[in-house]
Amino acid sequence: MQTSQTPAFGAPAKLFHWLTVLLLAAQYAIGWLMPDVHRDTQPVGLIGLHLSLGATIVLLVLVRLAWRFSHKPPAESSILPASMRLAARVTHALLYVLLIALPLMGWANASARGWAVSLFHVVPLPALAATGSAFGHTLGDVHKLTAWVLLVLIGLHVAAALFHQFVIRDDTLGRMLPGVRKIR
Ligand code: HEM
Ligand code: HEM
Repeated sequence: MQTSQTPAFGAPAKLFHWLTVLLLAAQYAIGWLMPDVHRDTQPVGLIGLHLSLGATIVLLVLVRLAWRFSHKPPAESSILPASMRLAARVTHALLYVLLIALPLMGWANASARGWAVSLFHVVPLPALAATGSAFGHTLGDVHKLTAWVLLVLIGLHVAAALFHQFVIRDDTLGRMLPGVRKIR
């Protein structure tokens, strides 16, 4: 049950969280639906959208992290064993690391292909690797693999959220849902 006593994340932190979920869902769908990328592929259509949305995600996560480091999160539940709290902290940290590293690898791969990355053709962004760079090309394969690693981690995170909600019943979910008053 959500109550006004539930210590929750502030509205901006919740907004960042659910916006990231929404954009990631779209980004995975586009990544899988877009045409296969070959040597002479051009970054148009869904591929162009994947680059712009991916760059948006990495910028959003950077703003989110800046907010996170400058605003104290709500107190952790004291009924959980220290091992579970540590597991949650490690998972969250890994999620943040991958949310930055994954798009940067895709971006470097795009640069290595000679593609200009921009925010929806409005804001041009710098190249992260030299055109033709072998390192940038390898990062394309690592990008694809890491997209799966992030997905597995998200699966664990969601499973943990549901476990809290339906098995432990400690209202951890309420900390990240809209409408719960932040009391600290
Ligand atoms: C969190 C953000 C991102 C996610 C979740 C994501 C996910 C994906 C997925 C699922 C694929 C298809 C993999 C496959 O076919 O097996 C893919 C491919 C690709 N992505 Fe991303 N991506 C992200 C960000 C970016 C960014 C920012 C860029 C570039 C600016 C980018 C560039 C690419 C490229 C070039 C490919 C094709 C790689 C190849 O076939 O060699 N991605 N991405
Ligand atoms: C794309 C998928 C998701 C990503 C990348 C993600 C990422 C994160 C991260 C990084 C945190 C840590 C917040 C912080 O302490 O700074 C977090 C917290 C949280 N997430 Fe997610 N999340 C995702 C989806 C979900 C979903 C679908 C749910 C619910 C079913 C959920 C429920 C929660 C809850 C309840 C917290 C707060 C945990 C606490 O009390 O400390 N998340 N999420």
